[in-house]
Amino acid sequence: MYVILLGLPGAGKGTQAARLKAQTGLAHVTTGELFRENIRRGTELGRKAQPFVESGRLVPDEITIGMLLDRIRQPDCGRGCMLDGFPRNLEQARALDTALAADGKRIDKTVYIRVPTEELVGRLAGRWNCRGCGAVYHEVNQPPRAAGVCDNCGAQLYQREDDKPQVVRTRLQVNVEQLQPLLAHYRGQGKLLEIDGLRDVDAVTEDLGAVLAA
Ligand code: AP5
Ligand code: MG
Ligand code: ZN
Repeated sequence: MYVILLGLPGAGKGTQAARLKAQTGLAHVTTGELFRENIRRGTELGRKAQPFVESGRLVPDEITIGMLLDRIRQPDCGRGCMLDGFPRNLEQARALDTALAADGKRIDKTVYIRVPTEELVGRLAGRWNCRGCGAVYHEVNQPPRAAGVCDNCGAQLYQREDDKPQVVRTRLQVNVEQLQPLLAHYRGQGKLLEIDGLRDVDAVTEDLGAVLAA
């Protein structure tokens, strides 16, 4: 099953994908994390992506699409995967449709996690991430048991460079612009499902689990 999680920055895509991975066994593919990993390792791709990621703009399609298509051809995606952060514009959506079709596959479901923009700034400002296992925390909404330490794997938590208020503004603006055409694309294919992402994390996980199982 190939599933796309759509949602603005801070909507809970990563939080939910990490939980659903444990429930469904589907791989969690996230372009944001692929870029951050390449930036940390200092690869050529990382050097090209860095100025875009750090300023909150979209990395150009000629870099992003190839990276994502390579990733979903890895063995752990053979039975499908959950896509988080891709596609982010119509060009990416069309490239994904074409590439899957060439392998006799297709997107099964697209789930839009709807959260009002006013809520997102506070979520991003209070976010803490685990590099070890991908878990996501929030200092108020989802605090770890011990400050700064991951409950699951014990690794140290960190805050993202692009969660600074000025960069968050750009990210929100860029993503709001691209969202409607993407929703229309998947609505047109009859694949768009929508869930209320403003409730607590467990309630959203339950909804998503139900949608995926249906
Ligand atoms: P990416 O890493 O994907 O960032 P994003 O889209 O801005 O999304 P986030 O990861 O910020 O939000 P999320 O929805 O995962 O929220 P989370 O679960 O963490 O991309 C980073 C950058 O990479 C982009 O800006 C771009 O430069 C580049 N890039 C990536 N993909 C690209 C592409 N396809 N094309 C071009 N460039 C690309 O939750 C947020 C916080 O809220 C956490 O603290 C969490 O604990 C809390 N929270 C979650 N759910 C709830 C809830 N239900 N109630 C209360 N709090 C909650
Ligand atoms: Mg994320
Ligand atoms: Zn961890």
